[in-house]
Amino acid sequence: MSTPTRKPLISGNWKMHHNHFEALQMVQKLAYLLTAEDHAAVDVSVHPPFTDLRTVQTYFMSEKEQIPIALGAQHCHWEEKGAFTGEVAPAMLAKLDVAYVIAGHSERRELFGETDEQVNRKAAAIYTAGMTPILCCGETLDEREAGATEAKVRSQVEAGLAGLSPEQVGGMVIAYEPIWAIGTGRTASSDDAQAVCALVRSVVADRSGADAAAAVRIQYGGSVKPTNAAELMAQPDIDGALVGGASLDADDFARIVQYRL
Ligand code: PGA
Repeated sequence: MSTPTRKPLISGNWKMHHNHFEALQMVQKLAYLLTAEDHAAVDVSVHPPFTDLRTVQTYFMSEKEQIPIALGAQHCHWEEKGAFTGEVAPAMLAKLDVAYVIAGHSERRELFGETDEQVNRKAAAIYTAGMTPILCCGETLDEREAGATEAKVRSQVEAGLAGLSPEQVGGMVIAYEPIWAIGTGRTASSDDAQAVCALVRSVVADRSGADAAAAVRIQYGGSVKPTNAAELMAQPDIDGALVGGASLDADDFARIVQYRL
């Protein structure tokens, strides 16, 4: 089987930061900093809060040469509509040209009680609406120290992929984010990150076959910065990064996208 080339995807997860004015300034600066060569080498997505999406979409579409940064969301519900106060349906995001939606970020799991089953329903609903899920997995520090990293990541990935076709799995993005590395300034060593991303790929191979495993893009997340991006991205099973804190600064995020320079 020939190995397909996986174009890296670097995604900025803004979390609950930047109102829609700040979001506009941020993406204008980013669009200015990123070059055609950058876009040829790396796919880029930004994931602002819901209230910013329309503003950012309008800006991306307004330029003569439409800006090749993909719009992403951080979360959605899995139902199409209904009495779900405060929730947003996948089709509402697709209507705003959202291309990627994060599903099962550890903050959603820990702070808002999202279960593996809900994350799986969300991943399927994101596909149904014509978007691509970024499925998150990762272990806590206690789990890592207890030697339970593999079991945790395996179970999250298996549960997240349930019911998805091999084609869907091959087209999706899985983000490995060790929880102890998120927002802490502690990054997994590139060897450790590579080992778990390789494990994720082997779980995909077992569940969805070799083609899906060769095609799926696996991101590393957890304190990715301009100074460590190149080393992480050099690992064979790391196909991108999910960046939190450093994505809030356009210069830092652009330098991460430009990791190969
Ligand atoms: P961080 O966040 O880069 O601030 O560690 C990563 C994430 O939560 O996606």
